[in-house]
Amino acid sequence: MKSLIQWTALAISFAGVSFAALPTRYEAGDKLPFVPNRFIIEIDNVSRLSNRRSLVRPLDAVYSALRERGIGLQIDKEFNSDGIFTGAAVTLNNANDVTAIESTQGIKSIRPILKVQAPKPYSYKKVTDKSDPAVPADSFSTHVMTGVDKLHAQGLTGKGVKVGILDTGIDYTHPTLGGKFGPGNKVVGGYDFVGDDYNGKNDPVPDDDPLDQCNGHGTHVAGIIGANPDNPFDIVGVAPSASIASYRIFGCNGFVTDDVIVEALLRGAKEGSDILTLSLGGADGWTSGTASVVASRIAASGKIVTIAAGNDGSDGAWYSSSPGNSINAISVASVENTVVPLQKVVTGGVEKDPGIVYYSTFPLPIEGTFPIYVTSNDTTNMVDACDPLPDTTPDLSKFVTIIRRGTCPFVQKLENLEAKGGKYALIYDNGNGFNSIDIGRFSGNAALIQAEDGLFLVNQWKAGAPVTITFPQSGGSVGYPTPRGGLVSAFSSYGPSNDFYFKPAVSAPGGGILSTIPEGGYAVLSGTSMATPFVAGSAALLFEAKGKKPEVGRTARTLFESTAKYIPSNLTDADPLQTVTVQGAGLINVYDALHATTILSKGELILNDTVNFKPVQTFKVTNTGNATKDYKLSHILAGTALTFRPNSHFTAKGPVPLAKVGAQAAISPEKFTLKPGQSRDVTVRFTAPTGLDATTFPVFSGFIQVAAPSENPVHVSYVGGVGSLKAVTIIDTTDEVIPDKIPAIFNADAEVQTEPTNYTFGPLDYPTVFWRQVFGSPIVRVDLVDKDIKVQTNVPRALPRGLPYFTFPFKHGKGDGTFAQVKIVGPITEFPFLTRNDDDLSGNGFHSFDVEEAVFANGTVIPNGSYRILLRALKVTGDWKKEEEYEVWLSPIVGVQVPEKPAPETPETPAGSA
Ligand SMILES: *[C@@H]1O[C@H](CO)[C@@H](O)[C@H](O)[C@H]1NC(C)=O
Ligand SMILES: *[C@@H]1O[C@H](CO)[C@@H](O)[C@H](O)[C@H]1NC(C)=O
Ligand SMILES: *[C@@H]1O[C@H](CO)[C@@H](O)[C@H](O)[C@H]1NC(C)=O
Ligand SMILES: *[C@@H]1O[C@H](CO)[C@@H](O)[C@H](O)[C@H]1NC(C)=O
Ligand SMILES: *[C@@H]1O[C@H](CO)[C@@H](O)[C@H](O)[C@H]1NC(C)=O
Ligand SMILES: *[C@@H]1O[C@H](CO)[C@@H](O)[C@H](O)[C@H]1NC(C)=O
Ligand SMILES: *[C@@H]1O[C@H](CO)[C@@H](O)[C@H](O)[C@H]1NC(C)=O
Repeated sequence: MKSLIQWTALAISFAGVSFAALPTRYEAGDKLPFVPNRFIIEIDNVSRLSNRRSLVRPLDAVYSALRERGIGLQIDKEFNSDGIFTGAAVTLNNANDVTAIESTQGIKSIRPILKVQAPKPYSYKKVTDKSDPAVPADSFSTHVMTGVDKLHAQGLTGKGVKVGILDTGIDYTHPTLGGKFGPGNKVVGGYDFVGDDYNGKNDPVPDDDPLDQCNGHGTHVAGIIGANPDNPFDIVGVAPSASIASYRIFGCNGFVTDDVIVEALLRGAKEGSDILTLSLGGADGWTSGTASVVASRIAASGKIVTIAAGNDGSDGAWYSSSPGNSINAISVASVENTVVPLQKVVTGGVEKDPGIVYYSTFPLPIEGTFPIYVTSNDTTNMVDACDPLPDTTPDLSKFVTIIRRGTCPFVQKLENLEAKGGKYALIYDNGNGFNSIDIGRFSGNAALIQAEDGLFLVNQWKAGAPVTITFPQSGGSVGYPTPRGGLVSAFSSYGPSNDFYFKPAVSAPGGGILSTIPEGGYAVLSGTSMATPFVAGSAALLFEAKGKKPEVGRTARTLFESTAKYIPSNLTDADPLQTVTVQGAGLINVYDALHATTILSKGELILNDTVNFKPVQTFKVTNTGNATKDYKLSHILAGTALTFRPNSHFTAKGPVPLAKVGAQAAISPEKFTLKPGQSRDVTVRFTAPTGLDATTFPVFSGFIQVAAPSENPVHVSYVGGVGSLKAVTIIDTTDEVIPDKIPAIFNADAEVQTEPTNYTFGPLDYPTVFWRQVFGSPIVRVDLVDKDIKVQTNVPRALPRGLPYFTFPFKHGKGDGTFAQVKIVGPITEFPFLTRNDDDLSGNGFHSFDVEEAVFANGTVIPNGSYRILLRALKVTGDWKKEEEYEVWLSPIVGVQVPEKPAPETPETPAGSA
């Protein structure tokens, strides 16, 4: 069976298409998530292909078959992992050959090569000495939240388990990470697939040493898994006795292509990693990328693969990450740490116990003791220091200035402060939240304090108290309880995937995490990047406790899911539980996972959308304990995510609003008794919630809880949707994000083309196809068609702005409605499994590509003439063969008027050449 059947009759191609020059207004570099003309081919089961009589390698046999068919390709890299993945990364001479390659005997699939962004580097403070000031009070909060502390107390530390980390490399010279590289050390091995200078666009320069001292992300990840105790910060990894293999797949900056991720996954598996962890990914929504598929197969083989769920929470629903979407991997969401290490100032001249906490992990580097100066005696002044400070203001260089937050950016307030010589500021909160602040180019130091501390200082000042402030450079660290500790981090991405997979799987602490960074340093970072290694470390404890058996690996996700703890959506009892589309099955509890004696056969029940609704679900409960247990089953509702903004085609932004109305679940049986070793099947019949605004595409979720006396209950999580994925609009035709009427062809002047326009396809004169997607599409296809084509479009054409336009709703069942019957002149390009866009015009805000050369996908020159461009986006779950299951847009007339090439001149010898 072909893994991607919809490709069989289609050309997937990038010939003649480049992603460089964009309309200047929207210029943002490459705007599509693929690498032009590069693909990964997979060949069929090697054992079946091998010809016993010859010694020809199966891959070579396939290459010969391709060559015989006249397919020109360059082999960039081979993958040889029988049972998991055998194939090659290739560059095609003619992208239209994809169709021919797919139908070649021995070829199982061909997929485009995806780009994955590198984790952002960050600045950090180096700490080397145990007497260092910056030591926070409590760095074990994440272990307490998840029961890891209790497992450590039982002596479980990940002994004998190897964790492969695919990341930016590791600074293994860090004393807390063992200080050395190679067998016998903590970082026992690994490989650098890319080298420092790799950025995703140039050639990797591999070597044997995965040392990273330029980015640091992987070092932080490694510390979460394996930091040795006895360090200045008294942190410790989840599995400090585990061995680590470091697979470096990012250079210092830039992105990585997924052929490198695949190579690293296969090597990690082959070199004996029991667990592979990937704190990387990009918003995608699909489960079909090669790295996702390979990760999934490695997981199915009995290893544990943990992958970040993504940091796109603010972009709302239906925006899961790839390769985190990998079907069998564990996609990890982030929960806020309950405690963050912050600093406090010492006050003089007044009593202030227990001091004033300011939002900084490390002490601000301010030596000495200073009186305070207050810019406004009015603690309700909304515009404090937004305007230049009055002439009566003294030279502020010898003060710590107290300013109220609000109205204008911090940077503006600090500029006004700087104009009066001010170097140090404490800005008090106005209720917006206690957090770190952006001080821009301010040359001094500033941090946020809490509102009540600001009021205290201003009132003391007004009363004439001689208040002074000192920033202790040691001993000022406090463990500050975070108000949102234990809740899902705002940045954590929402699922489900576009094909309704249960993503993310579980949550782990990822918000406000202290760990190691290069050159002996430590830093607090936040991200699903931090939550992911936490689960990898937990998996190491699981393997240590239960043995490194494939069966343990294969059931790990279900075990972590069924023993996780429900996460509320907000702080009060009245708030519903968080939707499983962002918390997964809950916050992992590793202690409960390792000690559970009630085992569920499933962790996830996927009910799918209304059209594909699977209301009846079953799972098995097994009593693996020594005592007979009386079970009671119940239904626990989570909030119903209203995943679209009402009456709009736009997905809801994060935090996605929740309704308390949920599904009904009839559980059978609701009570039963199991003797040790006995099992029982349970059936649940779900009824989707009613009465909700259908335009919001409600995604409901919750848990079927299985409880027995004197043990923590376990649960299976469910998710379903009220609505039809096939009905969801894909192409954005509004001006909400892009002020131009889109989709559009941008002309040589970077303006929307509204009239017939000729292009010479010279250096600056070519059309750019530009569109936005409000939802992912399995196939986006661009063809050249006759200018007079009669085609049913349903996406409005660009018209001069301000004019009304017509929409063309589909008329199902009308005669010429199939894909094949639309007569095209030739294909230009096709994009499989394209992600939706978000609002970030410098990020994934739109899709566009330049048709720089007048050639078809196969490289053949397009004859001069008048055409239109036909853009078609297949609906989710749509049938690619049916034209009516696409959204269709037809461009204005595009004239191809390539001037005749002048006869080649005899090359002149450049003056002065030898
Ligand atoms: C490949 O084929 C062999 C023999 O037919 C079979 O045992 C094996 O399971 C197959 N492997 C895969 C990955 O399908
Ligand atoms: C603010 O209060 C202080 C102390 O009472 C006083 O010296 C100062 O003049 C007041 N500032 C303004 C602008 O009223
Ligand atoms: C949901 O239904 C669609 C349409 O049948 C299917 O393609 C998809 O795989 C289903 N999702 C899951 C997780 O089963
Ligand atoms: C949580 O509740 C507070 C009030 O208690 C509210 O201001 C805030 O908006 C809520 N947050 C979310 C994400 O719903
Ligand atoms: C069940 O009993 C056996 C034998 O007494 C013991 O080894 C085992 O640890 C017990 N298991 C549990 C889960 O209590
Ligand atoms: C495009 O070029 C053709 C051939 O030269 C010409 O007939 C046509 O009028 C031109 N169209 C426009 C809009 O300039
Ligand atoms: C390339 O594609 C065009 C348009 O589909 C077609 O007319 C032409 O025959 C193809 N050329 C080759 C060499 O396949």
